[in-house]
Amino acid sequence: MSTRVTDLIHRFEPAADATLPPLLLLHGTGADENDLIPLGRMVAPGAALLSPRGTVLENGMPRFFRRLAEGVFDEEDLRQRTDELAGFIHQAQAEYGIAAPVALGFSNGANIAASLLLRHPGLLRGAALLRAMVPFRETPPARLEGTKVLLLSGTADPIVPAANSAALAAILGDAGATVAHHPLPLGHGLSQMDVALTREWLAGFQETKA
Ligand code: MLT
Repeated sequence: MSTRVTDLIHRFEPAADATLPPLLLLHGTGADENDLIPLGRMVAPGAALLSPRGTVLENGMPRFFRRLAEGVFDEEDLRQRTDELAGFIHQAQAEYGIAAPVALGFSNGANIAASLLLRHPGLLRGAALLRAMVPFRETPPARLEGTKVLLLSGTADPIVPAANSAALAAILGDAGATVAHHPLPLGHGLSQMDVALTREWLAGFQETKA
């Protein structure tokens, strides 16, 4: 069931396995808070799932920020929505008693996750960015030491050119993040390769019980 206990419509599923970090699920254009729940369950079974719905509508399709054209972002809106999403994450952490989440974003959701990393360093413990792009023409100065990033791009992606995902990997790496970038022989859509690589990468966050 979707709820609105904080400022955004979202779903929250509590953890069944407290050794896993919570996942912040950020959907692509035209989806909603329900879309990535099955993927979250597949890649991190038992983790708490926090899944907000994007607040912008483009021809009735939810998104996390406005764009001027495909791949051309309204950066002022992106900055504002990113800061609102950061506020929501703080609220949700207090409301549900969860630690700093690891973001799992697809497409538009991956793009706002990249923006969250750069505008609010330290808020996310890490981020799995599936088909993400460079969010800002001028990158905000951010230090991301201690933040892990998984970047899964498609070499045949018609929306995200290979050079753009390579540039995003370089931006995040230069900011100090530990970046694992896998260009996959895929388009914009997700595949079992994305699921397997994300699952393996997330397992690196699991705390070992004393
Ligand atoms: C975006 O607008 O974030 C990107 O073009 C990806 C998309 O949503 O299609």
